[in-house]
Order: sequence, then C-alpha cells, then structure tokens
Amino acid sequence: KKENKRARLLQVNKEAATYFFHQLRSENGRAGWQYLKKRELSDETIRKFGLGFANMTSNDLVKFLKSKGYEDEVIRDAGLATFDEKFGFHDKFWNRVMFPIQDINHRVIGFGGRVMGDGKPKYLNSPETPVFDKSRNLYGLNIARTARKNQIILCEGYMDVITMHQAGFSQAVASLGTAFTEGQASLLKRYTDEVILSYDSDGAGVTAALRAISILKEAGMTGRVLNLEPYKDPDEFIKNCGQEAFQKRLDGAENTFFFEIRMLQKDYNMQDPESKTKFYREIARKLCGFSEEVERENYIQAVAQRYQISVENLRRLVLSYAMQTG
Ligand code: GTP
Ligand code: MN
Ligand code: MN
Ligand code: MN
Ligand code: MN
Repeated sequence: KKENKRARLLQVNKEAATYFFHQLRSENGRAGWQYLKKRELSDETIRKFGLGFANMTSNDLVKFLKSKGYEDEVIRDAGLATFDEKFGFHDKFWNRVMFPIQDINHRVIGFGGRVMGDGKPKYLNSPETPVFDKSRNLYGLNIARTARKNQIILCEGYMDVITMHQAGFSQAVASLGTAFTEGQASLLKRYTDEVILSYDSDGAGVTAALRAISILKEAGMTGRVLNLEPYKDPDEFIKNCGQEAFQKRLDGAENTFFFEIRMLQKDYNMQDPESKTKFYREIARKLCGFSEEVERENYIQAVAQRYQISVENLRRLVLSYAMQTG
C-alpha cells in the first residue's frame, strides 16, 4: 500500500515534469525560455536538466493531471497543488521557471521554481513528501555520481550546479538552501572521499560552510573550500571569469582547517595583545582535535608560520590544552 502510494507520487511528478518541459517550449513559456537564455544556459543544458515552465494561469497543471486520471489527493500529496479559500484547489507553482529535482536514480522527487524577476519568494520549493526527503537528497547527484572526477563540489543553488555542469564541472551538487545534513554526507561518501565546498561567499555561506566542515569531519571525509571572491557564487564566478579560472580556483581550494582559522581570526584584533592571546588559545584548542601526533605537528608548524607565533610557543600551548582535556 505504502509502496503503491510512493510509485503513484513518482508517476505524477514525472507527468508534471513532462508538462512543464513542454510548456517551456510553447508560446506560454516564452518568458521562461528568455529568462534561461539571459542566464546563459544552452539548449542542451536546459534539456539535460529537464528545465520547464509553470504557466501564468493558476490551475493549468491540475487540469492537465486530472485529464490524465490523477486524483486530487495524489496531486496534493505530491505538493503540486494546494487548497485555499480564494482560489480553491489550484497549482502550487505558477509563472515560474521549473527545476525538477531528481534522486540518484533519476526519478523526479520534487521541484524548485524560480520567479523571473525580483518577486518573492525567489525560489518556491516542493514540500517534503513521502518521496522527497530534503535531508537525504542532493540536486545534481544523479549526474555527478557518474562524473568520474575524484571529488564532488558542494554548492548552494540550482543555478550554481547547472552553470558548473555546463562549464564541464559535472561533479557539482547542491544542498538546496537547507543546511547540509549527516544524511547528505553519508550519501556523498558512497561516491567520493573529498568534498570541495563552494558555498556563496556571503556571511550565510561562510556559516553554512563551517557547519558543513564539521559534518564532513564526523562522516570521515576530507574537504577543501573554494574561494570565489570577489564573486558571490559559482554561477557568477564562471559567468564572469570562465571555466579555466574556475579550474584554477578549484586546484587552489583551501584546506578546511586553514579556512576555519582564517574565519576565526575575524573575531579577534591582532593589534591587541589580549585579543591576540585569546586567538592563539582558540587555535591551540582546535589543534588538540588532531589525535595523530605527526598530523598535529604538521598543522602546528603551518599555523605558526602563518600567524606570527613561534612553533615552540604554539606547541607548548597546544600541549597545555591537550593535558587539560586528557
Ligand atoms: P539565483 O539568484 O537564481 O542565482 O539563485 P541562487 O542559487 O544564487 O540563490 P541564493 O544564493 O539566494 O540561494 C541558494 C539556494 O537557496 C537556491 O538555489 C534555493 O535552493 C534556495 N533558496 C533561495 N531563495 C529561496 C527562497 O526564497 N525560498 C526557499 N525556500 N529557498 C530559497
Ligand atoms: Mn537568498
Ligand atoms: Mn546564498
Ligand atoms: Mn547564490
Ligand atoms: Mn546565484
């Protein structure tokens, strides 16, 4: 019974994706097509990601799905339509460019829809459903898993993934606005050991990257962090600097520990001895996290060199914390 329900939800999602896909290529979808062209996506890319369009009029999809024999209940449970007093039973998505979200087996499990202008919300996403567990899926992984690259690039958004793939970086996936989870980490671990974090270079992106680093560590994976400055996200970087420059940034992606320390330093004033001392204590505490002696020593030396403290002094400080914590 439960399996039947899941199968039905996947079916109706697939039907909806096909519908959106054809709308994008019809007269109705003109604005959507123009929008995607403005974002510099090729016909091939648009096809590859199955992008589509939800009409201006508010219940075209419901009508279409009902004509195909789907009941209100399954349409509603798939998150494709909702009921309210004003419009009755109506489409959830309208006048948006549609991004179908696929699981690793290419089954459509949900959608993201973007407004073409400055409206809000910028992206409207499907709710969680019996087939759409946001914490256990990653956008683009269905393609990235076969990319044959020795790393996976983790970013925030649909457009970031799509632009990276278009530029040849088909190892890119996105965590879709929600924070990176343990479930997503274990999913990634099936395909790679190294994750390159490529979150937006704003405050929210840095916070999300720091969180992701600790989740990756717990999952036993290594990571590095991509620096996109002065651009905001991978999409903007590639649009402005191109594929080769992005590859260079990728090759030079920063060690996660160095990234953490560099972000930590922003909270301290290195001109003030008191603040500076606290900064070193914090570093020493973090260095205690390396249980293997050789690794810890390597980091002590690297950090000492970067932050104007002698190796001896830093080592002593680390040792004093190591003894406290046992
Ligand atoms: P573009 O402006 O199209 O380049 O999108 P972006 O991916 O750069 O957007 P942003 O960095 O603001 O957000 C990153 C991701 O968070 C998006 O791809 C969405 O998955 C999600 N997101 C962004 N805005 C919203 C929103 O208003 N509501 C929800 N639910 N998710 C959002
Ligand atoms: Mn945002
Ligand atoms: Mn962002
Ligand atoms: Mn962004
Ligand atoms: Mn963007």
